[in-house]
Amino acid sequence: MRLLVAIGDAYDASRMIKIKSSQVSGVSYKTIGDPGLEFLKEISSEGAVAKVRSMLNPAGMDLSRWRELGISEGFARKQLEIMQCFERMRIEPTCTCIPYHESNAPLRGEHVAWAESSAVVFANSVLGAHTNREGGPTALASSILGISPLYGMHLKENRLPTHLVRVKCKLNSELHYSLIGYWLGQNLESSIPRIDGTPKNPSHDKLKALCASMAASGNISMFSIGAARQHEVETVDVHEEELKDTIDLLSSDGGYEQVALGCPHLSLQEMKAVATMVSGKKMGKRLWCFTSRHIRNQAQRHGYVSSIERAGGNVICDTCIVVSPMTELGINGIVTNSCKAAHYLRSLSRVETRLMDLEECVKYALQ
Ligand code: F3S
Repeated sequence: MRLLVAIGDAYDASRMIKIKSSQVSGVSYKTIGDPGLEFLKEISSEGAVAKVRSMLNPAGMDLSRWRELGISEGFARKQLEIMQCFERMRIEPTCTCIPYHESNAPLRGEHVAWAESSAVVFANSVLGAHTNREGGPTALASSILGISPLYGMHLKENRLPTHLVRVKCKLNSELHYSLIGYWLGQNLESSIPRIDGTPKNPSHDKLKALCASMAASGNISMFSIGAARQHEVETVDVHEEELKDTIDLLSSDGGYEQVALGCPHLSLQEMKAVATMVSGKKMGKRLWCFTSRHIRNQAQRHGYVSSIERAGGNVICDTCIVVSPMTELGINGIVTNSCKAAHYLRSLSRVETRLMDLEECVKYALQ
């Protein structure tokens, strides 16, 4: 409670509000290390339990198949201890950054306290729910107390567009949405862009890519799509050139042996698309498809997992490209369709990246 009050004071919150759900980050042993584990042990041993539906961001490994994916015993032991702490606090081991694909996604106008930055943008912009970009500890405090300070994105007046973004180039694949999101995050820090000129009704998967990259390169928590309203104070145009600059920044042309999809985690539709492309073929390179356990189970029922695995790919859940110990696994170059993954792999793990859209990634993996 002291933590939430301090945050509320810092942002001049008038009071606390009840939340419907919480989503807690800081789950991977790679990111929280021993100090994080000690904190979780302490708080979970004192009897703290979640008061509202609470979910987890990705952990550092696939919780059931970590051995076959080459994770060390030492890392796995620590990761499993972290999971036990969350279990004691009755937080669901969803281990995904797309909690809106789990059951009971938040409804328009509902208040939640989510920590995964890409999911925060999706919740505010696509679902119409209200959440600030929580940190792991504040989301955990909100889980236990069922409340959050009333400030920022919880207030209607802070949700109005600040910039009009006129798209002057074609946005076809999810990679284009990821590129434009990354550019917006870099150039319109902390804004609320209204994006005009996208094709009509972009798919949830394209919006998912947009949300993730704008949150990775900047501090954007919300956007909207459509023609100008009267609130925007500034207009910005985005051309082909800006997308090319972003590719140049995040993509080198190495012939890497590892292809990774699923940042954010793959949806069922995307799993289907990959399965269809690889069905009856054989991988020439390693293909990793990251998704949630919830979606993996659905994909398994549809036969998508077996199609991918028969072709030599791996469907990995509970973790992601960024929070798993990539360098420990000896990987130094990755082909991916995600600007967010490229951003963090380059900056945090010193792993080289090459960007292609999902279809090109799969074709590349098959060569
Ligand atoms: Fe999700 Fe990991 Fe990317 S949490 S958005 S897959 S960096």
